[in-house]
Amino acid sequence: MNFKEKLNKENLPSHIAIIMDGNGRWAKGIGKLRIFGHKNGVSAVREAMEGCVEIGVKHLTLYAFSSENWNRPKLEVKALMELLVNTLTKETATFMKNGIRLNTIGKITDLPTHCQAKLKDTIALTANNSKCVLTLALSYGSRTEIVDATKSIIQQVQDGTLKIEDISEQTISNNLSTADLPDPDLMIRTSGEQRISNYLLYQMAYTEFCFLDIMWPEFKREHLFEAIYNYQHRERRFGKTSEQL
Ligand code: IPE
Ligand code: IPE
Ligand code: MG
Repeated sequence: MNFKEKLNKENLPSHIAIIMDGNGRWAKGIGKLRIFGHKNGVSAVREAMEGCVEIGVKHLTLYAFSSENWNRPKLEVKALMELLVNTLTKETATFMKNGIRLNTIGKITDLPTHCQAKLKDTIALTANNSKCVLTLALSYGSRTEIVDATKSIIQQVQDGTLKIEDISEQTISNNLSTADLPDPDLMIRTSGEQRISNYLLYQMAYTEFCFLDIMWPEFKREHLFEAIYNYQHRERRFGKTSEQL
């Protein structure tokens, strides 16, 4: 089926969040090292980005490295950091051609300084692009993000710029690193795992989940279109009854 043709342009997810999982298993499955899987995941990133731009999805957030991923073998971490820098260099043309603006969430200051510099440069270079915001979650952990938001809110109360009685759900949203992004409408995870691994916990209260039984290097834009097609055939009730919608 051609899912792209069947999509309802009036009901596109405004924000898609992806957990790019399964690189290591994909590589091991063909007798290669895990890092070979990460390298082959880059084409899938391009598929996801270009797929979003092709149909008009405005926000794409990719989980690229979690705060827990620092506990992986040193060599793998180092290879992932190098891959990040090389990918940013190689994909700058893709960003410019497609009008993609780069953004990040997570503890960027944890990254090696040359990665930070590359990110900063690419963010500046793409700052005026307006078709799609690509957010990379790097050294990202949602619980830490919530702790940091809590600290910031308490600070504002102590400074007298915020009253306790004025703290709302919106206050929390505004103090998360995703303050400028809408909540994800759709979350896609590859690799068959059905968990969210400390990703956007607060933001995904009403997100629709799609778990795919393929590994990330196998991901193509058609998978994205199919996931959106399925999303469009769900009923998002937000607590109401079907009859009320
Ligand atoms: C996702 O693939 C990439 C990162 C987490 C950086 P994995 O490396 O988690 O691959 P699997 O899940 O072990 O197969
Ligand atoms: C989640 O994948 C993080 C990223 C995709 C960057 P993991 O492979 O680290 O998650 P777990 O450990 O299987 O939950
Ligand atoms: Mg994994």
